Amino acid sequence: MVTSEARRRSPQGSWTSRLAFVLALSGAAVGLGNIWKFPYIAGVNGGGAFVLIYLVCVFAVGLPIMMSEILIGRRGRRNPIATMGLLGEEESGNRKWSLVGLLGVGGSFIILSYYSVVAGWAVAYIFESVSGDFAGANPDQITAIFGGLTGNWVASAFWHTLFMGMTVFVVVRGVVQGLERAVRVLMPVLLGLLLLLLGYSMVEGEFVQGLIFMFEPRFDELTPTGVLSALGHAFFTLSIGMGAVMAYGAYVPDNVSISATSVTVVGMDTGIALITGLVIFPIVFANGLDPAEGPGLIFVTLPLAFGNIPGGTIVATTFFLLLSFAAWTSAISLIEPVVAWVTESRGISRPAATIGIGVAIWALGLLSVLSFNAMADVNFMWGTYFDSADFLTSNIMLPAGGFAIAVFAGWIMSRRSTAGELRLTNPAAYRLWRFASRFVAPAAVVLIFLNAIGVLGWLGMGG
Ligand code: PHE
Repeated sequence: MVTSEARRRSPQGSWTSRLAFVLALSGAAVGLGNIWKFPYIAGVNGGGAFVLIYLVCVFAVGLPIMMSEILIGRRGRRNPIATMGLLGEEESGNRKWSLVGLLGVGGSFIILSYYSVVAGWAVAYIFESVSGDFAGANPDQITAIFGGLTGNWVASAFWHTLFMGMTVFVVVRGVVQGLERAVRVLMPVLLGLLLLLLGYSMVEGEFVQGLIFMFEPRFDELTPTGVLSALGHAFFTLSIGMGAVMAYGAYVPDNVSISATSVTVVGMDTGIALITGLVIFPIVFANGLDPAEGPGLIFVTLPLAFGNIPGGTIVATTFFLLLSFAAWTSAISLIEPVVAWVTESRGISRPAATIGIGVAIWALGLLSVLSFNAMADVNFMWGTYFDSADFLTSNIMLPAGGFAIAVFAGWIMSRRSTAGELRLTNPAAYRLWRFASRFVAPAAVVLIFLNAIGVLGWLGMGG
């Protein structure tokens, strides 16, 4: 059903193969969300039942939205703002849809301003691990190491600067020479490191206890907030609703199947999150530590375990390398939509645009650095800048973007356009996608919002 109209071409170039796109998109999806956030939210929500709900959310809501976002990106073949304006005009005579692109580009900018700070800690931890700082350390010493990093703004700013530099370094080179080349190396290495760690935790950790914790559904431990954080996390971990997938979609060759790629990437992202859980929890249990530690799980609990296991220094170094690589390929996908927009709308060259945007995000990121020390008491709407930026993007902007994308693909775009782009040979598969895009995904987002409003009300009353 390929339509006869002339296909557009992206001014940024295109992925050289389906594999390149799969690697780039899974690079975007697999990040701090999988390795830092997923284990700790699964931990605080009691494990098994949470994991089950998360899987349902990823496949019922995340997968159709990912397909919609790629198809929109490929049809427009511009940066998210221009693409949404262009398709809005074509499908409904309304250019205002470009606001959805703006929401995405703005969101990516804000996410990277705190993402880079946590990623910087991950890079710092590679060096802490190599130098054997965790070996034999007691809980107080580990807490002091983490506190010394977050509490000292100069140290934290240093690692944030380094990480932003790494991100800019790749993106200035462009889609094929920069992004594609980076993911072709980093993603296979990442998978290799993860499998090594899995082998270790099977042999040395309390693997069965870890399996039970992750997969035995204990529904009594699941709260409504737990269900909604599973849904919210499905958006974050798949990078959907934020223009990143749309930007990458603009570079997808015409003959690549959107549905097959989406299934692969969603499967990969979920698999990596689950395997990470199976690496972390058995090691945590083998050391008699608490899986419900919260955000400090991988920066405090896990290093404590690493310090007391055979080969701990090597395992710790491997783990934080993995975390840094995963964060790096995601950061690339966060800056790319902004870069594409600035180069296309202002006619600025990619290197100049990337450096300028990198500096701007870096500067905003200093507020995240300061959120753990000098500005820890400064309240931006939802707590510190760091907490507010996370709350605003994960709980408001991402779901809102996902909602708009699902509605646009499901209700505004014609069947001819979406079917022509998806080219699903099985009519039932197309109907299933359309149903999910029209009803399931938007309804799920409304739920996240009601939750967010509840939280807002509660904060208002509490403060
Ligand atoms: N999916 C990434 C992660 O899990 C984060 C991300 C969100 C990246 C939105 C791009 C866009 O860490």
